[in-house]
Amino acid sequence: MASLNDIKQRSIPNHIAVIMDGNGRWAQQKGKDRIFGHQQGVETVRKTIETCVEIGVRYLTVYAFSTENWKREPEEVNALMSLFVNACNAEIDNLHKNNVQVKAIGDFSMLSRECTTELQRLIDKTKNNTALTFVIAISYGSRWEIARAAKLIAEQILQNRISIDEIDENLFDNYLQTNQYDIPNPDLLIRTSEEYRLSNFLLWQLAYAELYFTNVLWPDFTREELFKAINDFQRRTRRFGKTTEQIKNELK
Ligand code: FPP
Repeated sequence: MASLNDIKQRSIPNHIAVIMDGNGRWAQQKGKDRIFGHQQGVETVRKTIETCVEIGVRYLTVYAFSTENWKREPEEVNALMSLFVNACNAEIDNLHKNNVQVKAIGDFSMLSRECTTELQRLIDKTKNNTALTFVIAISYGSRWEIARAAKLIAEQILQNRISIDEIDENLFDNYLQTNQYDIPNPDLLIRTSEEYRLSNFLLWQLAYAELYFTNVLWPDFTREELFKAINDFQRRTRRFGKTTEQIKNELK
């Protein structure tokens, strides 16, 4: 198991994104309701934020609720929404005290007024904090975000503000929510619970991220598990399409 000392020897990923999977199974294994797993999941989020602040990760993005999650049973959707509202409420002072800035990405038009109000309160209160940017992806779907960007660009073209020839990767990137909120691309993606999918999460932004999958369920994802993921990341050579030889020469 990797320790804090091990990971401190090398560079810490600037941005970690997490697909927090396995809450339901964790609860069912214990003979409890799925929502008990989500409640425990919030605890893991809280501890993960604290560890990220401690070790100097600058951005942490969590996939709290996907556009597809709206298809779950109304009972679970309502319970999850109440959990978000309560967690925002309960954690606001603690996050602020720990100098954590909160941002949110997703289709907020789907959220209840109570949920958007609480989220906005959290975002406003923490907006000048500098230790860690904690991004909540809620009612978020990457395809939704990409389609939204295409629509925004089309509007600009119709208003003669940009020409079709100006569209390239950089311009497109500017219309993604992540760029609009100054969130860099993730360096490391962690997915728990032995599922090997991206599930419509940050598809554009994860193009060059290192992917780490673990069979640990999200409520059991301890700080040691995070160190293990970071340690694994630190042993990879990120080539961004270049050869290993080229990368070695650049580092000389
Ligand atoms: C996936 O597990 C988890 C979710 C859909 C919800 C995760 C949300 C939280 C942990 C709350 C986060 C709160 C804040 C404020 C950021 P699953 O239900 O798909 O588990 P399963 O695959 O075992 O069924």
